[in-house]
Amino acid sequence: MTRLFGKRAFITGAARGIGAAFAERYLAEGAQVAIADIDAARVQETATTLGAIPVHMDVTDQASIDAGIEKAVAAMGGIDILINNAAVFTAAPITEITRADYARTFDINVAGTLFTMQAVAKQMIAQGTGGKIINMASQAGRRGEALVGVYCATKAAIISLTQSAGLNLIEHGINVNAIAPGVVDGEHWDGVDAFFAKYENKQPGQKKREVGQGVPFGRMGTAQDLTGMAVFLASPDANYVVAQTYNVDGGNWMS
Ligand SMILES: NC(=O)c1ccc[n+]([C@@H]2O[C@H](COP(=O)([O-])OP(=O)(O)OC[C@H]3O[C@@H](n4cnc5c(N)ncnc54)[C@H](O)[C@@H]3O)[C@@H](O)[C@H]2O)c1
Repeated sequence: MTRLFGKRAFITGAARGIGAAFAERYLAEGAQVAIADIDAARVQETATTLGAIPVHMDVTDQASIDAGIEKAVAAMGGIDILINNAAVFTAAPITEITRADYARTFDINVAGTLFTMQAVAKQMIAQGTGGKIINMASQAGRRGEALVGVYCATKAAIISLTQSAGLNLIEHGINVNAIAPGVVDGEHWDGVDAFFAKYENKQPGQKKREVGQGVPFGRMGTAQDLTGMAVFLASPDANYVVAQTYNVDGGNWMS
């Protein structure tokens, strides 16, 4: 497995969960990988475990983004692949959404993705050899959900930004595409489950069981279920793929 041999990848939000699984798979495919996360201790621990380069970075802070990219470029010599994976989940009935939570969630999920993409795109353009950018959307961006208005809106924004950036950056040989997972088990979904336990009066673990049973494939996804698409979109096989969002969700959504 050396489909990414010699490539240099930068993955945000990769201290745990899906981002860490992407890092592990990219390393197995022969890439160098820098993992960036706001959780300083966890990103260090994960990087040590995987053999990646740790970057302590907050995607809401431009100076932090710039310093993080500088560190990764110094360590790897450049960046060929970016995965914009950092995000937070939030949920509330429409009548309880606060401006503060709306602003924070859009700042991390949307502005964080946009301005990390911008900074890495500048680096890729300066390198002059193109690149691959993968944004993390969600099935939550394909349609709204009654209690998940803000998060769904951020993921719809990611699908739209992927289209615009994909159309804009392909002239530099930079392919921008996105992955829309369905329901992926892990610490993120532990939080989602706790939210629904509160608002839908469910037992802990009940929402997870229900969504898993609802997936046409027959279970929730794992982070590893997503890594094949992340390798494909980062590889030369995807050179002619531009501005798309791919569902990797066990059949939950068709588009
Ligand atoms: N888990 C799912 O079911 C699911 C489904 C669809 C889409 N997604 C998307 O996939 C991606 C990864 O999800 P996950 O389940 O691994 O989530 P996760 O919560 O386990 O991991 C997210 C990581 O982002 C980091 N992060 C948060 N704010 C940050 C900031 N300001 N700067 C830098 N890092 C920050 C966190 O510390 C964490 O390590 C996210 O974009 C998520 O929206 C997840």
